[in-house]
Amino acid sequence: MKFKLLTAAFAALAITGSVRAAESPEVEARIDELISQMTLAEKVGQLNQLSGYGYNPDMVGQIRAGMVGSLLNEVDPEVVNALQREAVENTRLHIPLIFARDVIHGFKTMFPIPIGQSATWDPAIVEQGARIAADEASSAGIRWTFSPMVDIARDARWGRLAEGYGEDPCLTAAMGAAAVRGYQGDDLSRPNTMAACVKHFAGYGASEGGRDYNTTWIPEPLLRDVYLPPFKASADAGAASFMCSFNDINGVPSSGNTELLRGILRGEWGWDGLMVSDWNSIGEMVNHGFAADKRAAAALGASAGVDMDMEAHCYAAHLADLVEKGEVSVATIDELVRNVLRMKFRLGLFDNPYVDAASMRRFYAAESLEAARRAAEESAVLLVNNGILPLATTGKIFVTGPMADAAHDQSGTWSFDMEKSHTVTPLAALRDMYGADNIIYLPGLAYSRDRDTSKFDEAVAAARGADVILYFAGEEAVLSGEAHCRADISLPGAQTAYLRALKAAGKPIVTTVIAGRPLTLPEESGLSDALLFSFHPGTMGGPALANVISGRVAPGGKLPMSFPRMVGQVPMYYSVKNTGRPTYSMTLIDDIPLEAGQTSTGCTTYWLDAGLAPLYPFGYGLSYTTFEYSEPALASSEIAADGTLTVSCTVTNTGDRAGSDVAQLYVRDLVASLARPVKELKGFEKVTLAPGESRRLTFNIPASDLGFHNLKGEKVIEPGEFHLWVDNSSDCKKQPVKFSII
Ligand code: BGC
Repeated sequence: MKFKLLTAAFAALAITGSVRAAESPEVEARIDELISQMTLAEKVGQLNQLSGYGYNPDMVGQIRAGMVGSLLNEVDPEVVNALQREAVENTRLHIPLIFARDVIHGFKTMFPIPIGQSATWDPAIVEQGARIAADEASSAGIRWTFSPMVDIARDARWGRLAEGYGEDPCLTAAMGAAAVRGYQGDDLSRPNTMAACVKHFAGYGASEGGRDYNTTWIPEPLLRDVYLPPFKASADAGAASFMCSFNDINGVPSSGNTELLRGILRGEWGWDGLMVSDWNSIGEMVNHGFAADKRAAAALGASAGVDMDMEAHCYAAHLADLVEKGEVSVATIDELVRNVLRMKFRLGLFDNPYVDAASMRRFYAAESLEAARRAAEESAVLLVNNGILPLATTGKIFVTGPMADAAHDQSGTWSFDMEKSHTVTPLAALRDMYGADNIIYLPGLAYSRDRDTSKFDEAVAAARGADVILYFAGEEAVLSGEAHCRADISLPGAQTAYLRALKAAGKPIVTTVIAGRPLTLPEESGLSDALLFSFHPGTMGGPALANVISGRVAPGGKLPMSFPRMVGQVPMYYSVKNTGRPTYSMTLIDDIPLEAGQTSTGCTTYWLDAGLAPLYPFGYGLSYTTFEYSEPALASSEIAADGTLTVSCTVTNTGDRAGSDVAQLYVRDLVASLARPVKELKGFEKVTLAPGESRRLTFNIPASDLGFHNLKGEKVIEPGEFHLWVDNSSDCKKQPVKFSII
C-alpha cells in the first residue's frame, strides 16, 4: 500500500481543518497529571477492553488491580454501577470504566436496520434514531456504542451490509455523520449520550467475494474516493472513537496498519479520538500471517496506534514486557493511554461515573415508537405497482408468508436488547387496521428457509376466498449481519414456489419482501401486482407497512444499493466506469442465432444472460404520486477549482396525492487523467409535496467535491467539462446539463 507519506508540516496543516482540536488545555493537563502517576501496569490496564460477565470476584479483582479500561456487553445498570464503583472507589487512581455495547439500530426500540434507515435518504431520521438509541442505552449505563458502520458495500452477498448505509460514499457519509450527531448530541458529557464508534476502518466492505472477514485489494484512488469519505465525514462530525477493521488491505491488516491509522486518520485528518480494535483483531494478525505470535501482534497494534485491545488480551499479556525490553516505547504507550483517558473525560465520566437508571429509563416511550414507525414507513421502497396499491378494499384480505408474523426476524441483525413482545408485526397491524374478521391468515411457510410445500394447497384455497393476497416474504434476521453471507441471494426456501402457487388463486398479489440485503427478485417482480421492499424494519415495522399498503402514508424510500437481477452480476453499483466498450446495444442469450459468429453479439461489456443493468437501480423507488424535475439551472457554467457549483431545480408533485421524493444530483467528469465513473452522487434532498405543489431546491457543491485522488493518493481537481443531472434515480436518462471547471 502506498499511502501518501506524511510530513510533519502537512500533518500540522491538516490539523487546522474542520476536525475538532484536542481537548481543552485543562483536560489535557489533567490527563498529563494522571499519566505521570500511573505505573506501567496501570497504563496497560487502560488499554484493555473485556467482555463483561457480571459482578463476580474474578472481574472485581481485575478491575481493582487496574487491569481493565472498558467493558462491553454489560447491560444491567445495577451491575454497571457496581463494577464502576470498584473502578472509581477501589483503584489507586480512581479512573472510571467505559461501558460499551453494539447498539446498532436501537437498544429497546428498534429502528429499521441501518441499510433500511439509509433507504429513507433522510439524515434527520438517522440522527433521531441514534438519539433515541442513546437515550435508552445510556439509561442502562451504556456510554459507548460500536456504531455507525460506514463501510461501503457493493456486493449483496456480504451479510454485513445490513449494518451500513449501502454502496455510495456521498449517501453513506451523510448518514454516518448524522448517526454520530445523534448518539453524541451537542455535549458528549451529558449522561444521556453515547460516544459513537465509526467502523470498520477501513475497506471491510470490499471483502473478496462478499465473504465476511475476507481479504481486500483496494487501490489508492478507490480507497480515498469511495471507502474513506464516510469515515472522514464522521470524523468531521466529531466522532469520539473509531474501530479498525478485521480485513487486510493489500496485505496489511488494519489492526497493524500504521499508514492508515496514524498517517491518514490522525495525521492528515487531525483526529484525536480513541481507536479500538475489533473483537480479537489484534490477535488475529497471527492468523493473517502478519504477526508471528500474540506478542508480536501486540507490538504491531500499539505501534500502529490501536489504543484499546478488544478481547484479544494481547496488550494485557505482552505490552509491559515489550516496553521493558525496549521494543515498544513508553511514549507510544502514553499516547494510547492519553487517547483513552481523553474519551473518558469527554464523556464526563470522571465527574459523573454512575448511571441513574431510575430517572433516565425511557424504554419504548410513545414518541420513540412513533419515530421508529415513521422511520420504517420512510424506508419502505415501492418497486412495482400496477395500480393495486394503495389498497382499496372493504372485503377480505388473505395475509400470508413467513414474514407476516415474525416479530424476532423483522427486527433484523444486532437486536440483542429488544424484547420481541414489544414488536408489532404486519399481521397484528393489519388486523388492527382492517378488523380481525376481515383478515384470513395462514403462513403457508413457517419460516423463510422452510422448504415444506405441504401447506400450499390449503393456503391457495383460503386465498380464493379473499379479495387480495398480501404475501410477506423475505429473510430471517439470521441470514444477514456479521458472518452471515450468502452465495445465493434469492428468496430462501420455497418462497418463490409459494408465490407461483398463490398465483393460481387468481387474486391480486401484493408482495412485501422483508430482508437484510438486496435480493434477486426478477420472477417475484413479474408475479406480483405490487412489490414493496422493506429492509428489516424493526419494532414498528408492522404498523409502518400497513400504513404504506393502505395508503395512509405514501412510500418514499429509495434504494441505497443497486438490486441485481441475478447474483452473478455482483459486485453491482451504479457508479461504474464507461470502459472502452460501453454497451450501446446487446444481444441476449435467447436471441443469438445458432452458429452465430464469434463477434456477432457486438463485443461490448455485458452478460449474455443478464444484460448489464440491475433489476432496480440505486436511488430508485416509486410513490403513489408522480414527480417532475425541471432542467437544472446553474448559477454559472464555469467554476474555479476553489469555487462552488450552485445548481437549482424545481421539483413538482404532478399527481393527485401528497408524497415524498428524493432529488438526486449526479455528475460525470468527462475527461480526466484517470477514467471517472459514468455517474457520481454529489448531493440529495428529500422533499414532501402536496398535489400540484412545487419546490425550488438549490445545491451548493464545492469544486473540491468534484475532484478525485490520483494513483499517488493526491487530491486533484482538474479543469474540464462535466455533465450534471438532477432526478429521482441513478438511471436518469435525461439530457445532462454541462458545466466546466476552469
Ligand atoms: C464486530 C464489531 C463489533 C464487535 C463487538 C465484532 O465481531 O465486527 O463490529 O462491534 O464484534 O461486538
